[in-house]
Amino acid sequence: MRQDLIRPGASELSYEIRGIVKKADQLEALGQKIYWENIGDPIQKNWQIPGWIKDIVSELAQDDKTYGYSHSMGDKSVREFLADQNNQGNGAKIEADDILFFNGLGDGISTLYQFINPTARIIGPSPAYSTHSSGEAAHANAAPLTYTLNPANHWYPDMTDLRNQVRYNPNIVGILLINPDNPTGMVYSLETLLEFVKLAKEFDLFLISDEIYGSITYNGAQHHPLAEVIDDVPGIALKGMSKDLPWPGSRCGWMEFYNRGSDQTFDKLYQTLVNAKMLEVCSTTLPQMAIPKVYGDKRFDTYRAATNIKIGERSELISSFLEDVPYLYFNSTKGAFYNTIIFKPDTLNNHQSLKIEDESVKDLLNTWLSESNMKPDKRFVYYLLAAKGVCVVPISSFCSDLLGFRVTLLEEDEATLKETFSRIRDAVIEYCES
Ligand SMILES: Cc1ncc(COP(=O)(O)O)c(C=O)c1O
Repeated sequence: MRQDLIRPGASELSYEIRGIVKKADQLEALGQKIYWENIGDPIQKNWQIPGWIKDIVSELAQDDKTYGYSHSMGDKSVREFLADQNNQGNGAKIEADDILFFNGLGDGISTLYQFINPTARIIGPSPAYSTHSSGEAAHANAAPLTYTLNPANHWYPDMTDLRNQVRYNPNIVGILLINPDNPTGMVYSLETLLEFVKLAKEFDLFLISDEIYGSITYNGAQHHPLAEVIDDVPGIALKGMSKDLPWPGSRCGWMEFYNRGSDQTFDKLYQTLVNAKMLEVCSTTLPQMAIPKVYGDKRFDTYRAATNIKIGERSELISSFLEDVPYLYFNSTKGAFYNTIIFKPDTLNNHQSLKIEDESVKDLLNTWLSESNMKPDKRFVYYLLAAKGVCVVPISSFCSDLLGFRVTLLEEDEATLKETFSRIRDAVIEYCES
């Protein structure tokens, strides 16, 4: 080619959550049973969608209108419903035109970063959910900017670290938080959220709050949406139906813009995203139409509450397997459906191993281990997969210097859940003591 086809930021794109699947598939082909713990898809974990929700979707499919294009920003009556839901809470109020639909929140996230000036940076949490960190880094043609979530302090953000980075890097124009957080399962306290708002006011920043897990909290935790605390700071809440309904295959997510009028540049960003969506015509129609019917139904709250209790019970069960393992920092999860488990410093090295009997599995593992510059947690993850069949994601692939792995709290079958976490516990102990 006469020119390099790929822009420099492209090397920042990686998604290990799906990358590890290739390895697990190779192992499955050798006859190994896989315990899938890599991806936050409740449907893959055999969750059943309540019959009344399926009825709503079936009825919508009978309506010719759901086969057409919708308004570029999203169906007007659906946006009115969502604005009204927001306005019933305390805090920032919005109108239908402050809401913009996308084909899944992942689409919204990449579009958002794509249109921000490359020199203007958004700082986000580390460990980082890759769709945010890779998208932001690719837009800037540089490594992602992150603030630390501290595993030794319940995964709460290190506000001193964040403040210093904002203070000494004038390119930072916005702060991202994911609340409840993926991958740590931490839920931000009201006090911490108010500190974010204070920082944004002091340094003239905008805030982005990914709230796709907003209604998934348990064991006493409460989620405070950005709208409740934002005051007059410009901000965007990112929402979707992939996790709480759950309908990840709907590819339906949306942005809610707060205080557009308070900053011209922020309003221009909103206009740009609206224009970009117009060029695409619109987002998927049918899932949007389901929103008022599902979220507006009282049965949804009952269903969500019952599901959250189940996730909370799994959080406790996982704690019972892992909280006393001396090689780990373990925090029980309060929201979303992940747990990030970290090895204590100096626990991992490149000589540890797990026993594997099968020669063909051993050979396969050896090909994986030949990757250059492999982080020690990835090495553990490969061993865990080969020796125990458990597929998790290494934390070093979430833009973090910490070493550990992410699991999910999604397994419906209690016997399988117990089997998975007893395998993980045994593997951690055997590996660290080998
Ligand atoms: C924090 C977070 N934001 C956004 C997304 C993307 O969601 P969607 O399925 O709507 O693209 C995910 C998916 O796992 C997520 O964990």
